[in-house]
Amino acid sequence: MTSSRVLLTPTLTANVSRAASKGLYSSTSTGTGLRASYVALRPFNSSSRRNFSVSHKAQLDFFPPPRDMPNIKQTPASWPHPEATEQQLKAIQLDHREPRTLSDSIAYNMVRFLRWGTDLATGYRHDPNKPYVMSERKWLVRFIFLETVAGVPGMMAGMLRHFRSLRRMKRDNGWIETMLEDAYNERMHLLTFLKMAEPGRFMKLMILGAQGVFSNGFFLAYLISPKTCHRFVGYLEEEATKTYTYAIEDLESGKLPGWENLEAPEIAVKYWNMPEGKRTMKDLLYYIRADEAKHREIHHTLGNLDQAEDPNPFVSEYKDPSKPHPGKGIEHLKSKGWEREEVI
Ligand SMILES: [Fe+2]
Ligand SMILES: [Fe+2]
Repeated sequence: MTSSRVLLTPTLTANVSRAASKGLYSSTSTGTGLRASYVALRPFNSSSRRNFSVSHKAQLDFFPPPRDMPNIKQTPASWPHPEATEQQLKAIQLDHREPRTLSDSIAYNMVRFLRWGTDLATGYRHDPNKPYVMSERKWLVRFIFLETVAGVPGMMAGMLRHFRSLRRMKRDNGWIETMLEDAYNERMHLLTFLKMAEPGRFMKLMILGAQGVFSNGFFLAYLISPKTCHRFVGYLEEEATKTYTYAIEDLESGKLPGWENLEAPEIAVKYWNMPEGKRTMKDLLYYIRADEAKHREIHHTLGNLDQAEDPNPFVSEYKDPSKPHPGKGIEHLKSKGWEREEVI
């Protein structure tokens, strides 16, 4: 057993004491020699030990104060997050776009295969009819692993479209920025979860391997068929929306007591501009789920467009602005994506 060195910042103290009062504080190491110590998580179940592990950041720098620099006051987010109302966040629905072409089917089956592999690796199961519960630790393992992968497509697509514009000496029509913003948003999800837990050594190795394989695979695939790649990400985001919806359901049905009163990290409060009184883990999951639903809309829409000629409908100005159209926020969210005829 490894004991946690807990640095008690005021927020952490509050979180820890709440967790301790429920008997939820535990610290342990896995059979593979990987640390898995965490605060505000349920007691560790030895029968559910996996190679993937997370250590709670409490030992390191839970909510570290911003560094005081002589000249810089603060560095705001490069892409400020669009505002969303509570009603909009709660209205997000699960949805699925049926594959219509061979390329859609390839993309969908690829996502199903990857989902099966990731579920196996991160010990994820979700069957309400079985007495199996995903613990807080297991959810965090899944979130962290998924978010390290989720940040790849946007950056790769943005980079490849940038290079394409340079070598063909043609305009990009506004796609690059949306792709980079997508990658930035996914990275903010990751950074937020890393304020709650730190991956163990084996998990870090798996993340390295997954990034190596996925980023190279996506790079090649995007050169061959960007349309299939956007559809693929659309399906991936359907799954991400599902993941966060199930986590919210677990939290709301009392299966994750360690998260019930957990406060969202400061990085999240600032990035999503979370209003006072709406800064808990549950609120955070609603914000992140809405982001995934937005990515689902963006990529399904881009998958419907002419990759070389069409402008990016998410940053375009419309001749009739009174008609609902794609934009940065989630006020007119279309979960299956906008059809080409609707927007171009
Ligand atoms: Fe994400
Ligand atoms: Fe996403």
